[in-house]
Amino acid sequence: MEAILLGAPWLIAHRSMLGINKPYKITLNGQDYVLWQNQQGEVFALDNICPHMQAPLSDGWICSDRGTIACPFHALEFDGQGRLHNAGKVGSQPLTSPLELVIQDDCIWTYGGYTPKIPVPNLISTLSAGMSFLGVAGEKSIRGTFVDSISINYDYNHQNGTHRELFGIKANRIPVFEHDGYHAQVVQELDRADSTWNDILKNPVVLTAPKTYTGILEYAFPALTTFRADFPIGEVLQVHALYPETATQTKTFVLVYSQPKHPIFKPLMGRFILSAVGTVVEQDTRAIETSYPHQPAKIRLPNEEIMFHAQKLYREW
Ligand code: FES
Ligand SMILES: [Fe+2]
Repeated sequence: MEAILLGAPWLIAHRSMLGINKPYKITLNGQDYVLWQNQQGEVFALDNICPHMQAPLSDGWICSDRGTIACPFHALEFDGQGRLHNAGKVGSQPLTSPLELVIQDDCIWTYGGYTPKIPVPNLISTLSAGMSFLGVAGEKSIRGTFVDSISINYDYNHQNGTHRELFGIKANRIPVFEHDGYHAQVVQELDRADSTWNDILKNPVVLTAPKTYTGILEYAFPALTTFRADFPIGEVLQVHALYPETATQTKTFVLVYSQPKHPIFKPLMGRFILSAVGTVVEQDTRAIETSYPHQPAKIRLPNEEIMFHAQKLYREW
């Protein structure tokens, strides 16, 4: 396939997603890669196709003493540079290509082997300063194009339908929408309807959400959508990562950071926020996967220019 958004930096994983000495497979722009992290925290990435008889290296295993990945088919071993290790000898040339990575604040980025067009954004370090990392939620492969998947992150009307059960939004205001190049910032004010007992039992996280709250969204197009909100129990930052797996499949996952107002809230935030984020991603995925092919819209809603802005950045990349 032709690469989507050639030269864009993609956030493909957080260190915590890799584990230690375990193969982790990703697909980026139609190419499969295998990543692994050793005990020392070094991260390696290779083309997933074994150069012997094309088995998927990600189905193999890591030999921690030699720092190699063993192929599941005939157990040949390759190091992080793609060199063959055989009977105590190391090949001089790589036989499979390593994928170049950029690691920043436990976040693993790549340009997928293309020349960088824009720098890796520093949004995560800026926004998460002083917060602690709660975990990763909503890791999902969406059956949808990249542009459809990113559009929903810039769509300020879908919470009324897609997320109605989770948030019960009554009103939605956008006092701020500013953009500069690939960065954009949106301030969103939401009024929630009263929660019924039934709502609370089904989803106790509604108790942690105030009746009116302000969320600040910042975007580093195309890879990141961040959402920060101050709840009574503490501040929460979500970093939604998105990258194109293939022309019709898009990967997403969310890094969640928090700063509880009191340490006793930390376990509560961990449990409920992560599961609420998982539900949000589930609902967005369903909205993308169940929609029919696009036709010209016969209705316009307020604030849709924010979504059109993202689609324009995509078209004019
Ligand atoms: S296919 Fe990988 S070792 Fe043979
Ligand atoms: Fe959504």
